[in-house]
Amino acid sequence: MIKKIGNILQTQEVGVELTIQGWVRTRRDTGSFSFIEINDGSSLANLQVLAENSLANYEVEVKKLSAGCAVVATGILAESPAKGQAVELQASSVEVVGWADAEDYPLQKKRHSFEFLRDISHLRPRTNALGAVARVRSRLSFGVHQFFHQNGFYQVHTPVITTSDCEGAGEMFTVSTEGAKKDNDLFFGKPAGLTVSGQLQAEVYALSLGDVYTFGPTFRAENSHTSRHLSEFWMIEPEMAFCDLKKNMRVAEDMLKFLLNDVLQNCQEDMTLFHKFIEKGLLDKLKMVVDNEFGHISYSEAIDVLGKAKKKFEFPVSWGIDMQAEHEKYLTEEVYKKPLIVTDYPAAIKPFYMRVNDDGKTVGAMDILVPGIGEIVGGSQREERYDILYERMVAAGIDVEEYRWYLDLRRYGSVPHSGFGLGFERLVQYVTGMSNIREVIPFPRTPGFAPC
Ligand code: 4AD
Ligand code: MG
Repeated sequence: MIKKIGNILQTQEVGVELTIQGWVRTRRDTGSFSFIEINDGSSLANLQVLAENSLANYEVEVKKLSAGCAVVATGILAESPAKGQAVELQASSVEVVGWADAEDYPLQKKRHSFEFLRDISHLRPRTNALGAVARVRSRLSFGVHQFFHQNGFYQVHTPVITTSDCEGAGEMFTVSTEGAKKDNDLFFGKPAGLTVSGQLQAEVYALSLGDVYTFGPTFRAENSHTSRHLSEFWMIEPEMAFCDLKKNMRVAEDMLKFLLNDVLQNCQEDMTLFHKFIEKGLLDKLKMVVDNEFGHISYSEAIDVLGKAKKKFEFPVSWGIDMQAEHEKYLTEEVYKKPLIVTDYPAAIKPFYMRVNDDGKTVGAMDILVPGIGEIVGGSQREERYDILYERMVAAGIDVEEYRWYLDLRRYGSVPHSGFGLGFERLVQYVTGMSNIREVIPFPRTPGFAPC
């Protein structure tokens, strides 16, 4: 029976005949047999295969196996007499499916830097850390869908190609055809781009289905070279009708806690690796987050706190500034030492769709900041009042005719509604402790970098 190594190591059914399929990590010969460590991606741990020299292909093949070779091994699972593993496979056959040249296989036994591994993104998931990231990322993605479905949300597939710029920050990649370069032809009849957010289209569905979410790739042509920015990243965006900012914050906090708890329960082996080797104390940090309420502060209060701080900031603090990473880090890492929700930002630094507060100066925005990363969630209550939204759009220089459909939502059964965007890679970073966002997406895209 073909079995996954993760399953074999968990159930440890000694005495059973099994077949495994995977890639060699190491081979070690002692006297009349060889130990081959095999990994098939189903767990962090390898399965040790014991191959005796009585195997027909022992001299010509088994003894030539090296890291990266693909093999299929069949044998009886036995208790391992040696320390280091509970069980091992005593092979009756080891079939080599694909050779990997020992001389030039890039993943040698030594530790490789993450920078080095980035240049071999086609091989890096075969390393312990990147394999673990891939499994945890998959589990988090599953958890997102599980959370929303348990809570009555419908998933909406919002478009990747769009003619509306949600954030209005001038960060859209344009979409065009090769032919368009020659005859200036617009394929969609008007300029189009890759979406920066699925929010506006999610609002359409929230105002029909109630509670919805979209979870897809988003694109930003910003020239940021930081450890938390990508040109292509995935975003989780719930949108809820009949929902104010308070409930919005509650959902965001509940979702984050659900997801952290889910990986703590279901990815223990991988999470222990991160806890030991990537961010010391990670498991305790995440458990603390799950067990405690997030902090709350308004933007105005935050500016006060920053103004009184003994710390010297590179960017000066005054009411109206867009908080910089150093400010966000100070608040969440040094003052609160836990996730912090900042609300009610100045209208002037936030997009047109956020609901204007009674003071006329601030909007019903909420950002969630976490230690080590800074902003992980950005959300708001949306402006549901036609006249105010219209004015805000004109003031923002938006061609309102192009956004008729969006304004229509405020003409036909408009209701208070809210939502947020959780950057999926920033979440994976937070959960794994990986310091650079380029390690938590399989194929990172950043300015000047998109190898395959
Ligand atoms: O704060 P942002 O720009 O919010 C929106 O796009 C809203 N339309 C979301 C909504 O209300 N539905 O982006 C949301 C989150 C950020 O908090 C951050 O976690 C992530 O997306 N993000 C990025 N992640 C990686 N690379 C980038 N360049 C990112 N820009 C934003
Ligand atoms: Mg934001």
